[in-house]
Amino acid sequence: MSRIHGQGGQLEVGVRSVPELFIRAQDGSPRRSSGPRRRLVVVSNRLAPVERGKSSTGGLAVAVQTALQKSGGIWFGWSGQVVSHAVEAPHIAPSGALTYVTLDLSRQDYEEYYNGFANRVLWPLFHFRAGLVEFRRQDLAGYLRVNRAFATHLAPLLRQGDLVWAHDYHLIPLGCELRRLGMEQPIGFFLHTPFPPTELLRILPNHRDMIRALCDYDVIGFQTVHDLKSFRDYLMRELGAQDLGGRRLRVFDRTIRAEAFPIGIDVDIVSNLAIAAAESRQTRRLRESLRARALMIGVDRLDYSKGLLARFEAFEQLIEHFPERRGQVTFMQIAPPSRSEVPEYLEIRRSLEAAAGHINGRFAEFDWTPIRYLNKSFNHRTLAGFFRESRIGVVTPLRDGMNLVAKEFVASQNPADPGVLVLSCFAGAASELGEALIVNPFDRMEITEAMERGLSMSLEERRERWQAMMATLRRNDITAWRENFVGALSAAVR
Ligand code: F6P
Repeated sequence: MSRIHGQGGQLEVGVRSVPELFIRAQDGSPRRSSGPRRRLVVVSNRLAPVERGKSSTGGLAVAVQTALQKSGGIWFGWSGQVVSHAVEAPHIAPSGALTYVTLDLSRQDYEEYYNGFANRVLWPLFHFRAGLVEFRRQDLAGYLRVNRAFATHLAPLLRQGDLVWAHDYHLIPLGCELRRLGMEQPIGFFLHTPFPPTELLRILPNHRDMIRALCDYDVIGFQTVHDLKSFRDYLMRELGAQDLGGRRLRVFDRTIRAEAFPIGIDVDIVSNLAIAAAESRQTRRLRESLRARALMIGVDRLDYSKGLLARFEAFEQLIEHFPERRGQVTFMQIAPPSRSEVPEYLEIRRSLEAAAGHINGRFAEFDWTPIRYLNKSFNHRTLAGFFRESRIGVVTPLRDGMNLVAKEFVASQNPADPGVLVLSCFAGAASELGEALIVNPFDRMEITEAMERGLSMSLEERRERWQAMMATLRRNDITAWRENFVGALSAAVR
């Protein structure tokens, strides 16, 4: 890997550093921590895209990039490269106050750690899809091996005063591996996915070892209070943890802090992008192609957890049951392929192609195609322009940690004529965005009805709902997320 670029003009690699860390006061307002400035070391499986023009659709990459732009430090993770030779050393790429450190994966590591244990065991399990779990001991061994390799290559780069912040289900044992190497810095973990209830977690054959390893982190963060509750419930019921109050728990002779830190977005960046993109060439092309029809939009990684099939069927029901909508509304689903070597992802891709073909074949006219289904990604600027052009944003995952698309859709709207968000009650974002049209994605007709309601909603109601959601987005933005987590981590006493 060579250079690391931002994308679409939005996310230039930052060189500014935030002079002090902040923590939130009890009343929710930010206040400065009194401690000295500390370097932040972020570890995640994937880093932001490395090639100019390529866009990340992943919430983690976007959020972490924004956070690190402000604080400076190290971002450590997989290079995205799978190589045939043995991996001996990381690539180190300084960029202003930030240094990117990346490791290639061997084919075997990639298969076992990424495709195998992370994406065929933890991902489906954490998204409540027990039936899709494919556990193999060999994959677990690969997962543990890669976590150990990450720790081995990261440890020599750490300084005493650093704060280490690991992200997501790929890296549950990383903290434990760093401790094994004698690292004593505060180490935190944030889970971007949901955390499953105890009975589901028990499906994982090594659940005790995994959670024991997780408890080597000092601060463990979740997207919502539901996830936090599930985690606490597991610790208390399965491991006899003691609640010390103040979000602290005593378990395995250690004191840990577990808390919900709902991830946010940089509201101004997104809304400015949308304003700038409103008259871009692509937005104009889209607008012209619509010929004054209302646009409904969905943007998701092509993943079975996103509820895309039900969403397509809900749209089919809309044009079936509300014939006056035929020729009047277009649904555009952007779904860049993801984890394409995992069989369940091949399967969902086939099903969606068939569903889109079926619906278009059934309802299309010579001058109207009901569904535009695109298996490609767009940069953030283009997406923000498309969101602003849309009357409805459809975000209907069957289960989702947060879903930043929901937030980006809202922030991209034109205040004078905002669109409507149709949002799954099983997305973490629903805990914050109660003014969206909240639906149960398992009830297709409920999605259909919300689509229809959104299409016929008055401007006044759209404005009211949008303003309330914007106030929430501003309160819980990306800065609050980072400062709250880092504040908790820097307060961790070791
Ligand atoms: O939601 C969890 C997550 O790690 C996100 O940060 C991101 O959306 C996605 O999964 C990344 O998927 P992958 O790296 O497998 O393409």
